[in-house]
Amino acid sequence: MTNMLADELNNIRQGALPAIAAADAASLEELRVSLMGKTGSVTQLLKSLGTMEAEARKAAGAEINQLKTEITECLAARRAVLDAAALEARLAAERLDVTQPPRPEPAGAIHPLSRTMEEIAAIFSAMGFAIKDGPDIESDWHNFSALNIPGHHPARAMMDTFYLTGGEVLRTHTSPVQIRTLLNEQPPIRIIVPGRTFRSDHDATHSPMFHQCEGLVVGEGITLGHLKGCLTDFLSAYFDVPSLPVRLRSSYFPFTEPSMEVDIGWNKKTGEIGGGTDWLEIGGSGMVHPNVLANCGIDPRQYQGFAFGVGLERLTMLKHGIADLRLFYESDVRWLRHYGFSPLAPATLHEGF
Ligand code: PHE
Repeated sequence: MTNMLADELNNIRQGALPAIAAADAASLEELRVSLMGKTGSVTQLLKSLGTMEAEARKAAGAEINQLKTEITECLAARRAVLDAAALEARLAAERLDVTQPPRPEPAGAIHPLSRTMEEIAAIFSAMGFAIKDGPDIESDWHNFSALNIPGHHPARAMMDTFYLTGGEVLRTHTSPVQIRTLLNEQPPIRIIVPGRTFRSDHDATHSPMFHQCEGLVVGEGITLGHLKGCLTDFLSAYFDVPSLPVRLRSSYFPFTEPSMEVDIGWNKKTGEIGGGTDWLEIGGSGMVHPNVLANCGIDPRQYQGFAFGVGLERLTMLKHGIADLRLFYESDVRWLRHYGFSPLAPATLHEGF
């Protein structure tokens, strides 16, 4: 081996090995190409072997290959170090802390009124009632005349009606859905109608928009006893008071005869439902007036029925101890969180049992 070659190999070795040991991923690849690539310095030296005498080639070949092995090992070692470091960095960066508590999700709540409607629907569904609805904007005929309230009748003044310019009204009660159902179906009929109603009224216990639930049962041989039994079962299930006192107090509605207010027993001082000696009115009721059946083409000599209407805000306020009706419609999130219900706990027949 010539001195010249020995010097060259030394130069390459002394330049390459420390450079490789200090290289980052990009410069390591550059170094590999410049040493071992097609035109790399080690590759050039190997190519030059072809022009040597056999004896010289043997010695030089061994030296060059020795350098090539050193450089190859050095490159591999550096690459292993860099790969390990890169992996460490990724593991650290992509780390998941499984002990971290989940971020609280903003959970919605079911409005107490919606909840009351769900509960009432569950209770009456179990008693075989169908659930109906009707339009908020009603004809004068559906809201009044067909319900035996003629144009001149003072009962119209009992309801502070919103009249629309076309002669329609915002329905003052859910009773027009009695008419819509009687016109379309044959007895036996068993329905409830939860829905929005409107009267020109506004204070702590009255809102111009409020909610009622109508009930209507028409069939052969329906009596006032059925009415009282049905209301008693419904109200004791709703208030979760098994022997709730229910009183029917004589009253007047044009569309029922006889007509009765529905009262429940409670304690006025404590608000306890079913306890005490006070009575609280929660709705109206009665036997469907023969004129109403006849107005809808149903023969009152063959069929009888009972009907009732309860105020849903009133029922909800009593059950949950809510004092002011206006808060129902303010969409105050704090109020909703306090009085709202979990959407994951649906209403059951005996809510709270
Ligand atoms: N519709 C009546 C009201 O709103 C209530 C009622 C319904 C009375 C059905 C009797 C029968 O005051």
